[in-house]
Amino acid sequence: MVELRAVAAGLTEIEEADLLVVPVFKAAIGGPGSNTVLDALGMERVPVTPSFRGDVGQHLLLAASEPTYAMVMLVGLGRMDEVDNERLRRAAGVAGRHTRARRVVTTLAEVHPTPASVMAVAEGFTLGGHEEHRFRSPAGQRDEGSHTERLDILVPSTILDGATRAIALAGVYAEAQIATRRLVDCPPDRKRPAALAAAITDLVDGRCEVAVRDEAWLAEHGFGALTAVGAGSTAPPRLVELHYRPEDPLETVALLGKGITFDSGGLSLKRDDGMRGMKADMAGAATIASVCAHLAATDSRIEVVGLLGLAENMPSGTALRPGDVVTAYDGTTIEVLDTDAEGRLVLADLLGRAGELDADAIVDCATLTGSAISALGHYNAAVMGTDDTLVEALVRAGETVGETYWRLPLTREYDRFLDSPVADSNNTGDGPGGGAITAGLFLRRFAGDARWAHLDIAGPAFLSKELSRDYLPEGGTGFGTRMLLAWLSGRT
Ligand code: BES
Ligand code: MN
Ligand code: ZN
Repeated sequence: MVELRAVAAGLTEIEEADLLVVPVFKAAIGGPGSNTVLDALGMERVPVTPSFRGDVGQHLLLAASEPTYAMVMLVGLGRMDEVDNERLRRAAGVAGRHTRARRVVTTLAEVHPTPASVMAVAEGFTLGGHEEHRFRSPAGQRDEGSHTERLDILVPSTILDGATRAIALAGVYAEAQIATRRLVDCPPDRKRPAALAAAITDLVDGRCEVAVRDEAWLAEHGFGALTAVGAGSTAPPRLVELHYRPEDPLETVALLGKGITFDSGGLSLKRDDGMRGMKADMAGAATIASVCAHLAATDSRIEVVGLLGLAENMPSGTALRPGDVVTAYDGTTIEVLDTDAEGRLVLADLLGRAGELDADAIVDCATLTGSAISALGHYNAAVMGTDDTLVEALVRAGETVGETYWRLPLTREYDRFLDSPVADSNNTGDGPGGGAITAGLFLRRFAGDARWAHLDIAGPAFLSKELSRDYLPEGGTGFGTRMLLAWLSGRT
């Protein structure tokens, strides 16, 4: 992790740095620090090239002859009147992503100097610059080059105290998001349910209570759906229970995570291209695990119970069959029409268990449907729920951290697509489209009368190289982690 500092100093007072990051608005309007930099470089105006016009996501690296800094990076912020904290986060992410300089100084936060913008810059730079090659050979890992050791964010002295606190919190948020990413990026052969439960136990180590339930315990306690989803694999399912107990909690929230360590589709087998990213089908569980691990560091006053359903969805002679009827934790029977709609089965059990906890709210997080991707693409998550206040609070928390959650309706008329001639429900909700909604309606059948919301992060949890950008890398993104931390610590 990068060491982050807020420094109340002007550009001319900085100590030595390897790289100076200066913002530029669209139409090559220089941001804070640009005049000093242009003077030092002997330039009259901000340079414009075909690939650098000051748009968000663009950058231009220049060699400096200044003794105090070796390189200058101009980062685009787009139109001056459209700059917000998310743009600052993205611009800082571009800087983090495109540099290996050891000591970096930036004036980015001076564009709009508040603790929240300082936090955005610190988060963006840390997340954009974080890269690991854990699964390369030792020789491959040596090729990585150096990493940024320190980022100094220049701020006016009037906000130094607030900025310093914001930076400490940014460090926690970025670390939490990176912890989620690391679990998602882990290859599926190394995170089969028991191994993932052990990795999560390590992650939360001492930061919240943890219990891991094995397949015998699950079968004995009525987790029929999770048991059935895990039945095809030689690596049996696990339930991880996490518990964060602050002093004098204001409320209790249950967080549920879909943890399919690999989704082959089961006997309703996916095609090769559909199966490729399916190690990321545990992103919901990874997000909840990391959130629980970092709540104490955000001083959250909300008591949180995390329930993670971990299973590997595989085809075999012991696998769940299309046509099987499984009994969920709450006694509801489900006719399995498609074994590839396994996430909602796992969540059905978790919702049933959560219903016994008398929580003030239940939120589940899952890479649940391809349909959510069709509707909203990879840069937005879907949110649904039975409680307007809860859904709105989650949307707002997303806005605070630069994540978009778009509400989909739980259209009552579609509920009948979930009916089954043999059981209480089927698991596909086969109807003419609306698959993310029918998945939500399926879950609602298990949410009882709790205040409940469902996050479908199938799109943003995992990005291809083409879709990766600024502070969101290729692979696991950790989407959802900072939003839930912001929500649970009242930072909205
Ligand atoms: N894990 C998938 C959803 C998914 C697809 C996540 C692509 C990320 C990228 C889920 O288990 C699934 O297979 N859903 C099916 C449900 C269908 C069979 C009713 C889907 O969305 O196609
Ligand atoms: Mn599936
Ligand atoms: Zn799945």
